[in-house]
Amino acid sequence: MKLSAGSMTADLFGPPPNGRWVSEPLAEGAAILRGFASEEAAALMDSLREILTAAPFRHMVTPGGFRMSVAMTNCGHAGWVTDRAGYRYDRLDPTTKRPWPPRPVSFTRVATAAAAATGFGGYEPDSCLINRYEPGARLSLHQDRNERDFSAPIVSVSLGLPAMFLFGGASRKERPRRVLLESGDVVVWGGAARLAFHGVAPLADGDHPLTGRHRINLTFRKAL
Ligand code: SIN
Ligand code: FE2
Repeated sequence: MKLSAGSMTADLFGPPPNGRWVSEPLAEGAAILRGFASEEAAALMDSLREILTAAPFRHMVTPGGFRMSVAMTNCGHAGWVTDRAGYRYDRLDPTTKRPWPPRPVSFTRVATAAAAATGFGGYEPDSCLINRYEPGARLSLHQDRNERDFSAPIVSVSLGLPAMFLFGGASRKERPRRVLLESGDVVVWGGAARLAFHGVAPLADGDHPLTGRHRINLTFRKAL
């Protein structure tokens, strides 16, 4: 496997030391940047707590009427929502009827830098979906395709408890790869991988110093 060091040398065995990260290719157009957000993780969680005072986590309902096990909220110009009427991006939080909280600069900085490190320069996401997994919560295989323009990548930041990420191909029939994502890991998929099916296996119980019994995932998109 081809690996490139984010800064200086990379130790392939064990986590990269502070300030260093390793890019692990996942598919054409997709990579896991191991430890890319580790240094910012605590600051990202602080910003998240502020967002939650204005737009708390909620369990949305799928168009088919199922309550999602992952709790969600959003920040930025548009938020991804689902209800009986369907999946869509909305400039307003349907719970509060107010705009989603602004996206913190710390969020944008990580997303833009991760995209650039994967070859997607000039990334300007307008939406950040925030997912909270509790033990047992899962996200079934899906494509991110409610965005208007597929030329921008998806950038996904993992915080807290580790999760088994499923990453497949453009068809649901392709058997997905299973990769463990840990706190600070960032996954970027765009280009040929932009419409790859992906999901998250049921979260294993645990206790993480940053998030307790949860995994948090920030998913950046250019939606509008
Ligand atoms: C998503 O597909 O929206 C989230 C993926 C993840 O939680 O890693
Ligand atoms: Fe997704």
